[in-house]
Amino acid sequence: MEFSIKAVQPGRTKTGCAVVGVFESRKLSLAASRIDEAAKGYLAAIVRRGDMAGKSGSTLLLHNVPGVASERVLLVGLGKETEFGARQYREAIAAAIRTLNGTGTRDVELHLTALDVKGHDAAWSARQAVIIARETVYRFDAMKSRRETAGPVLEQITLAAGDKADSRKAELGAQQGAAIADGMALTKDLGNLPPNVCTPAYLAAQARDLAKRYRMKVQVLEREDMQRLGMGTLLAVAQGSHEPPKFIVLEHRGAAKDAKPVVLVGKGVTFDTGGISIKPAAEMDEMKYDMSGAGTVLGTLKAVGEMKLALNVVGLIPTTENMPGGHATRPGDIVKSLSGQTVEILNTDAEGRLILCDALTYAERYEPAAVIDIATLTGACVIALGHVASGLFSNDDRLAEELLKAADAAHDRAWRMPLWDDYQDQLKSNFADFANIGGRPAGSVTAACFLARFARKYKWAHLDIAGTAWRSGKEKGATARPVPLLIQFLLGRAGKA
Ligand code: BES
Ligand code: MN
Ligand code: ZN
Repeated sequence: MEFSIKAVQPGRTKTGCAVVGVFESRKLSLAASRIDEAAKGYLAAIVRRGDMAGKSGSTLLLHNVPGVASERVLLVGLGKETEFGARQYREAIAAAIRTLNGTGTRDVELHLTALDVKGHDAAWSARQAVIIARETVYRFDAMKSRRETAGPVLEQITLAAGDKADSRKAELGAQQGAAIADGMALTKDLGNLPPNVCTPAYLAAQARDLAKRYRMKVQVLEREDMQRLGMGTLLAVAQGSHEPPKFIVLEHRGAAKDAKPVVLVGKGVTFDTGGISIKPAAEMDEMKYDMSGAGTVLGTLKAVGEMKLALNVVGLIPTTENMPGGHATRPGDIVKSLSGQTVEILNTDAEGRLILCDALTYAERYEPAAVIDIATLTGACVIALGHVASGLFSNDDRLAEELLKAADAAHDRAWRMPLWDDYQDQLKSNFADFANIGGRPAGSVTAACFLARFARKYKWAHLDIAGTAWRSGKEKGATARPVPLLIQFLLGRAGKA
């Protein structure tokens, strides 16, 4: 799918389809009225008849509209004009692409991008349009013996822009959108791959591919390296598995050598059985997504590489399976982390924090500007925030604000949760420095409190994406969240947002 920007006159060129909006109730957008003029009131008549009332997300596909050069005209409902904002805009783009995908349309002029969206500019509109279009047509059929999606696909999408200045902004936005969509597709693919394919070694190979393609620096630490360094908590999780663990270091150098990097740390548990504290059988297959944090870091770095972002970004990925077995860690085992702090492992299913904490200590060596870890860390976070917002925890108010703003702009929501020391008491252990679980109350907070003990030396934020990284049910699959949030944050840091 290719994208280009043009100040096209609606319906004047021989394209497969012109896409225009209709507000509730029955008010034509500017582009729609242009087409209506050429068609001598044809659209207005249809709208008056009640076939398109402008409800947000509704569509009506018209063929051979008189006086119009495009083969089709797609009317898309935009909802109430006074309420038209980011959510309605995104919904309209998705509805348009969904409707056209699977028709014979190959090229489209999308006039929705010329609509005014409250609080956003032309760059944002173009960026969002590209991301949503690519999301809508995404399919994961790598493991099917035959591709299920047949028929023609959308090839060329022209994004309509207003004036010259808008065109220039939209151009940049579309480019960024394509890079972000590429990154998101990688994140989704990695999440959707089965756990017998997407192993720690597979993730390491992906990092090596990215390094080669985007001239990044890559290093993969093996079990012996981790032993030498003293990554005791990560190794404790890995010891029950036959798949060897990896510790992946991927560095994008887009700024001066001495510019402090942003470090992204991604939880890479390629399958979480719970270990000896084994999980129930129902839906255990979904624990293949427990490497979504790692997938997010790789997808984000891919987008960063494609945009050649003028920023230093380091990705750290501790990756392993969490399996039961004769060599597996027992509840009650006490291990020493890379930081020197000892941990009593009371529940082997609280493994994410155990692999992340060693990565957080490893991050100190970069003297980072900020460290952000991304992890499908707790079921409790899903209970707290559902599938709408990622949980945000931070030891720095300004960093938290910056991330929340990025989340808002990218429409990739996050909500700040507390990290007060009052919660630390729940992690008390009679036998080690502290335990790896804090009981049922505020489970996502005590998990973050555990991590905070390893992130004292820098500005740090933690994103719990257990509820947002994938969808269950019929539409089961990875979402690539929070790649958009992180890119938005990094664009901001690079002065490009
Ligand atoms: N990977 C899970 C968290 C998870 C649960 C993600 C459900 C998505 C959906 C994590 O490793 C885990 O098992 N956490 C435990 C922690 C508990 C033992 C303190 C949990 O949330 O139940
Ligand atoms: Mn677990
Ligand atoms: Zn897990």
